[in-house]
Amino acid sequence: MTATIMSREEYLRQDLDARLPNYEKDGRLYDIMVSQQFSREFLETLFDIADRINAISHQPGGDDFLASLLRHKRAMLYFTQPSTRTFLSFLSACQIVGMRTGEVRDPSLSSEVKGESQEDALRTFSSYFDLIIMRDAKPGFCEYMAYLQQFAGRNVPIFNGGSGKDQHPTQALLDVYTMHRSFQDRGGISGKTYGFVGDLLRGRAVRSAAYLLTRYSGIKMIFAAPVEFQISPELESYLVEKGIAVQKTDSLEEALPQVDSLYMTRVQDEYDVSGESSRVDYTRYHLTCENIRRMKSDAIILHPLPRRFEIDPAIDSDPRAMYWRQLRNGMYIRAALILYVFGMEDRLAEFGGM
Ligand code: NCD
Repeated sequence: MTATIMSREEYLRQDLDARLPNYEKDGRLYDIMVSQQFSREFLETLFDIADRINAISHQPGGDDFLASLLRHKRAMLYFTQPSTRTFLSFLSACQIVGMRTGEVRDPSLSSEVKGESQEDALRTFSSYFDLIIMRDAKPGFCEYMAYLQQFAGRNVPIFNGGSGKDQHPTQALLDVYTMHRSFQDRGGISGKTYGFVGDLLRGRAVRSAAYLLTRYSGIKMIFAAPVEFQISPELESYLVEKGIAVQKTDSLEEALPQVDSLYMTRVQDEYDVSGESSRVDYTRYHLTCENIRRMKSDAIILHPLPRRFEIDPAIDSDPRAMYWRQLRNGMYIRAALILYVFGMEDRLAEFGGM
């Protein structure tokens, strides 16, 4: 009997809870699609793997050992939306664990110009590769690809490296890993106040990080944004339902003295339909050497990057600036995620140089 395959619209109309089991295999996460997939226990496991990879990579012989772990696997990087950091971070993560990689970044150079569907292009990749890492402008597209693979002969894990305005789950992992490292000697992530600033409506990084922080207790979130770009009512009710204390404001000044972590973002004007961004005054959402004096002395400042004017570069040398450290953390957390999905994390114990 042939199974009936749902259309993308039908598939995505289902509740997320009904879709999530499709992204697991043998009781483990397999496809990485949205932040709601990650339990607290999973986060702790992943942070520990990332810490160990980082430590091993600094030992003599550590790099060679790590690179021996997945030498037999290949990864495809399929990035049809612009990317510098996420692409290079995944590429470096693959290199750390020894995977060889292929890439398509410009669909005009692939057979899609001959009229091949993106679905067929992805199916081609899964024939050659053991992991697909993708970024695409269409929300839910990579989720649908993961679903479709169930009906294909070969099923490889798919990682979402950014799905339009929707989600960026591995960015959230690296953000929360950075918070975890920053706060580990100060009682951890729970019980702290997290500020998010900028284009909160269209920024996928903020949405994914906010979902992920609901895994911790006693959290307060302050969303500082122009009214036009405040968080969506859906996200707000999700957070409230999860017990998060939510404060929305259009004043960055109001947030500054309260936060333990401040997540800055840029205007996502690539999603403008008719120049909306140009009608909003963003100068009120910039960090300067002047206004950061109002922040706690041990707060942290995060940014998924790229930045435009949201953070004065003079702040980079302030000990609270964590955005460059986020990049390194991202590389290790993505390497950890790859090892985990291939069930290889126990092999780290074989390294004798520690
Ligand atoms: C973010 C993204 O692409 O969503 N960047 C990134 O992945 N590091 C944030 C952004 O582009 O503003």
